[in-house]
Amino acid sequence: MYSATLTLDPAFVVGPVRRRTFGSFVEHLGRCVYTGIHDPDHPTADADGFRGDVLDLTRELGVTTVRYPGGNFVSGYRWEDGVGPVGERPTRLDLAWHSSDPNLVGVDEFMRWADKADVEPMMAVNLGTRGVQEALDLLEYCNVPGGSAWSDRRRANGVEEPYRIKMWCLGNEMDGPWQIGHKTAHEYGRLAAETARAMRLMDPGLELVVCGSSSSDMPTFGEWERVVLTETYEHVDHVSAHAYYWEEDGDLASFLASAVDMDHFVESVAATADAVRAAGKHEKRIHISFDEWNVWYQKRAESRPPSGDDWPVAPVLLEDRYNVADAVVVGNLLISLLRHTDRVHAASLAQLVNVIAPIMTEPGGRSWRQTTFHPFALTARHAAGDVLRVAVESPAEETARFGDVPVLDAVATHDPGTGDVVVFAVNRSTTTPVDLDVDLRGFPGLRLLDARTLSNPDHTWQATADDATSVGPVPNTSAKVADDRARAELPPVSWSVLRLGRA
Ligand code: AHR
Repeated sequence: MYSATLTLDPAFVVGPVRRRTFGSFVEHLGRCVYTGIHDPDHPTADADGFRGDVLDLTRELGVTTVRYPGGNFVSGYRWEDGVGPVGERPTRLDLAWHSSDPNLVGVDEFMRWADKADVEPMMAVNLGTRGVQEALDLLEYCNVPGGSAWSDRRRANGVEEPYRIKMWCLGNEMDGPWQIGHKTAHEYGRLAAETARAMRLMDPGLELVVCGSSSSDMPTFGEWERVVLTETYEHVDHVSAHAYYWEEDGDLASFLASAVDMDHFVESVAATADAVRAAGKHEKRIHISFDEWNVWYQKRAESRPPSGDDWPVAPVLLEDRYNVADAVVVGNLLISLLRHTDRVHAASLAQLVNVIAPIMTEPGGRSWRQTTFHPFALTARHAAGDVLRVAVESPAEETARFGDVPVLDAVATHDPGTGDVVVFAVNRSTTTPVDLDVDLRGFPGLRLLDARTLSNPDHTWQATADDATSVGPVPNTSAKVADDRARAELPPVSWSVLRLGRA
């Protein structure tokens, strides 16, 4: 058994818990839209064809924002194809995922779904095959009240009030050679600056996200951010970051330490943004929108798009089945995002349904929660108030990828209104339980409200439609609070939440 200590202090505030940290992502990819959120023949489908079971799970997951419509898909998307009478919409080839899109769901349908799901939309414009004018047209369609060609088209399509969408992404992963319309940092930076400037002339209240790097492994990482932000600094609010993690060649220890990479990623993008700020003598700070993050086993067969003459609608793509270790990593990545709440102002778990997703569906049939659903839902539900920087004393284990890594990683939140303190913690050891001791002398008199742990002797256990419930977060009966100290035993490969309060 290892021993580890956490010390909490109400003065060590990093920043507020931002609700936008708990965003997700719906892309026209595989079965995310069609048979995911939209499945008109499903028994729970509403008059718009949206699955009621998926809407319920989306609300239970606690998702706050949803990025749409891509992803790589957006770099070839013509948004006009997806508005107006459904019967008149064209079917288009999606080159990114070698699929066909019948355009049954477009901007108006997505916005109806977002309203029902009670999420804030985060809209992306195509800066791959298109440019400033098409971005302006979409913005006019969405946000201008009326009296212009595209806003009147929206009204003619039955939507009287403008959507007033605030968050907009200026393209997607433009640093990636796989991207349709891939650009150099200079080319993209100029286009993003022109697009942002023009969009703000139409709607000054927008929050704009410029593309950062697709991962910290990109050869242009760092230089890309420097060049793009130098071009765009005054015109944008956030720079994006994307990261996916997977267990490579059975190296569980390095995989469990994936949050070390996310920590470095955030800190180095923030440092680059601050260097550009200083060099340009800018006043404002640029924040990070970590708008794609997750576990994604990219080497699995189902990650490869179809090929040849086959351009299927809604093929099975990227339908990763997650196990308990994957869920522990997802919980740890959320810990990393929270502890950087001073710089990460938005984030999106990629994606929401079927495609590397916490929610799975059968076409016309059952839906279920993957293991990764639970740490996300519990963090979204219980993180409240301020994020606290915690002092961690933990033994370390060696990993092939990151060297020595502390086995315990944790963050805490403190709600000054209720006085509640919530600790989110992972034990990243593959073999050894941790006896956790939390020093709460900064918060005298707290009681244990609840303690839950997600782990399993077999960390490869996966949820299926037949059994999605036999493994999940369960009460941690070892957890106790006495003399302003909390204690709990954390099994190896586990994620836990400890809720403390006065109630
Ligand atoms: O989320 C899956 C894909 O990953 C997205 O389409 C793309 O932006 C990223 O490479």
